[in-house]
Amino acid sequence: MNQLDVANDYIRKNSSKVKCKPTYHFSPPIGWMNDPNGFCFHKGEYHLFYQLNPYDVVWSNIHWGHAVSSDLLNWKHKPVAMACDTPQDINGCFSGSAIEKDDELYLMYTGHIDHNLDPVKTEDKIIQQQCLAKYHEDGTVVKSLNNPVISMNMLNNNYQVRDFRDPKIYCKDGEYYCVLAARNTDDRGSILLYKSKDLEEWHFVSDIYRRPVEDNLMFECPDLFTVDGKDVLVISLMPCTPEYEGIIHNQVQYIIGKMNYENGLFEEESRGIIDNGSNYYAPQTTLDKNGNRIIIGWICEWSNKNSKFVKEYGYNGIMTMPRKINITSGELKQIPATNMEEYEQEVYAVEDTQIDGKYTFTEQLISQHIHMQFSSFKTTFTIQVLGSESKGMSFTFNPVDNYINAYSNYTLKVDKDVPCAFNNKVQIDIYIDNNCVELYVNGKAFTFLCYDFDKGKDITISTENSLKIDLLKQMKISNVVIA
Ligand code: FRU
Repeated sequence: MNQLDVANDYIRKNSSKVKCKPTYHFSPPIGWMNDPNGFCFHKGEYHLFYQLNPYDVVWSNIHWGHAVSSDLLNWKHKPVAMACDTPQDINGCFSGSAIEKDDELYLMYTGHIDHNLDPVKTEDKIIQQQCLAKYHEDGTVVKSLNNPVISMNMLNNNYQVRDFRDPKIYCKDGEYYCVLAARNTDDRGSILLYKSKDLEEWHFVSDIYRRPVEDNLMFECPDLFTVDGKDVLVISLMPCTPEYEGIIHNQVQYIIGKMNYENGLFEEESRGIIDNGSNYYAPQTTLDKNGNRIIIGWICEWSNKNSKFVKEYGYNGIMTMPRKINITSGELKQIPATNMEEYEQEVYAVEDTQIDGKYTFTEQLISQHIHMQFSSFKTTFTIQVLGSESKGMSFTFNPVDNYINAYSNYTLKVDKDVPCAFNNKVQIDIYIDNNCVELYVNGKAFTFLCYDFDKGKDITISTENSLKIDLLKQMKISNVVIA
């Protein structure tokens, strides 16, 4: 059996043992999942490829998993698309993207080669180069015989081949471009632009974006697209070297500006954080069938704090709900892109009601959506979800100092304040789906993981002073099929 057959056979035989999966968020059939890859709409279907280690709940032996959907909500798992089976990707098929050319779908990804055999690893034995593959309608993927199509030789001496990855391709004026993350000789991140007429032969254009050396940042998973007339560069940030771990935190930034093709530079106008939660990384965007820009991210956690939970569950890694993005007043705003209504059944609702003190919901659900609207909100209040006597995750909304506090005392602890201008109005949507929670507040998104064997299910609202709820609805989410 070849490596793909071995992986598919393993998944077929073992995935029924996997437990406690979210019901309307995408997760792998089994094993470890990280970044979304090759996210696209092609011939009437959405494709989602992703970084997958089917054999364990830890990052290793990275394949490309694959699923398809007609609505970005119900997903059908397809056979594993790529395994580490050529000399160019022998130690990993790392992140990449998809693009249509002449009606066919092409995938571009990073072939990872790691010559380290000794326990003490040295970075100079790692090589990352960009490879091309073609997707066939029967679900098979054929890697190009010309790989790598962007080889280490096409990286000049200002960059290091050990960190040269995550090609995101786009097409502009009939030509293909690709943005890539690289480590420059200052040991910091650079975003590089390459260009091609046929996807096979590529040329270096320029280093489009850097940050000051003292920011101590390395970049991963760049994405460059246009929305609402502005160019947007999305980059996942990580510490540039191990000594900055704990000081520089992984997070994803958007930079709004203009890609200037004349001078080869991305000109920054404003920037912000894509997701204000604690577990969000490596997103990728595509256009949906109606031309909306959709972003999907990995609900991530690299630490081993989860290990006893994920070992028992048999999977590790969830995707966020796909979100529609736009730019309002120089800020990137997000709302769920999926049509949830069909799958939501209202279990509780109140309208125009004044509450005081503490208010407890009676329905306890595993997969649900809570929607709340306040139009004259002047007092601080907290909503706690996943609550029990000793545990809970809570969100506090403060309209006086204009911030949101997110708090959780689950294994993955959280306590953070995020500025949010309310102007006495707020619309809150909380999506709870077993081991993950997404919060949307006035277009800002927050994502949290919550792996735990005995999670609480209580939901309470507590308020310092009398609070007028314009609308509150609790909806059970069911019948989404991810199989
Ligand atoms: C981001 C990342 C990418 C890389 C992939 C490897 O999470 O580190 O830069 O291609 O994961 O799995």
